[in-house]
Amino acid sequence: MTCILAIESSCDETAAAICVDGKILSNVIASQAVHEKYGGVVPELASRAHMENIVPVVDQSIKVAAALYKQSPITLQTIDAIAFTQAPGLIGSLLVGAQFAKSLSLSLEKPLIAVHHMQAHVLANLIPDEHPTYPFLCLTVSGGHTQIVLANSALDLQVIGETIDDAAGEAFDKTAKLLGLPYPGGPLIDRYAQLGNPTQFKFAEPQVPDLNFSFSGLKTSVLYFLQKQSTDFIEENRNDLCASIQHAIIQILLKKLKKAVAQTGVKQVCIAGGVSANSGLRKGIQEMGTKHGWKTFVPPFDFCTDNAAMIAITGYYKYLAGNFTDLTINPSARAEW
Ligand code: KG4
Ligand code: ZN
Repeated sequence: MTCILAIESSCDETAAAICVDGKILSNVIASQAVHEKYGGVVPELASRAHMENIVPVVDQSIKVAAALYKQSPITLQTIDAIAFTQAPGLIGSLLVGAQFAKSLSLSLEKPLIAVHHMQAHVLANLIPDEHPTYPFLCLTVSGGHTQIVLANSALDLQVIGETIDDAAGEAFDKTAKLLGLPYPGGPLIDRYAQLGNPTQFKFAEPQVPDLNFSFSGLKTSVLYFLQKQSTDFIEENRNDLCASIQHAIIQILLKKLKKAVAQTGVKQVCIAGGVSANSGLRKGIQEMGTKHGWKTFVPPFDFCTDNAAMIAITGYYKYLAGNFTDLTINPSARAEW
């Protein structure tokens, strides 16, 4: 039996998970409501909340796993390794998780595994029983990143396309702000979009070469469009505006995904990251699959947004490969991979 304790603290969710032999037994998340009134994550407040939450969250992850797993006891002493998010993210937030993981590793004399948050988003697709086999493509869409990744194996992930400016999640959140919606606006756009007409309004389409994305033009296009309208326009057209903006973002994403399938010949396609919780994107990718003969995988919501289960599954594969790190490791706000 291989038991991994995983810790995720890259942004505003303090999370811990236990994975035994590749199966997730617990996935505990403490979200931080403190940021809502500021319209975005306040790094200093995030770090403080991580400090408060990390002990109870890790405790809870072990308790839940121990209650589920009857074959042998699960305690801090019986885990085989500690995985933690090393990069990228808010440095103060990452430091809390990294220091905690390093302290546990030192005191328990257990190996330490550093995990890249974006790789973990991709590997979240390996958690469900029905999961893709290699090679597969993953569209990773979050608040900070938009990437197309070619996965040749769990530890051989290659970024073949990414955004040159805003991430897809930022496109949702920034246009939502223009519509007067609170942060994070992505889920709200999704909700209103379900009641609106996606082809009611048209916005400028980006022209970006290769498999790369651009979303800053869409935001500007929405801004200029709204500036030309009357004061009640947003109120009266909220559903259609949300549906049209969401449609524009999804079309940008799916167009490049289609190009990536054509270029690589890889027809197993999955999605990851917070924006993969979007109902229009989930439906859109499944429709593309049916139309073009792709096998598509859409992870459960809990594994789309930030969570520690994805750190645990990545930690598990790194453990099998003997990919450990030592106590000199430091977190990094930005990290290439
Ligand atoms: O992966 P994630 O939880 O955190 C980052 O690592 O960034 O992604 C957060 C992003 C936010 O921009 C949020 O608005 C977006 O995911 N998001 C959504 C939906 N749920 C979350 N965007 C559109 N539709 C949704 N249902
Ligand atoms: Zn994330």
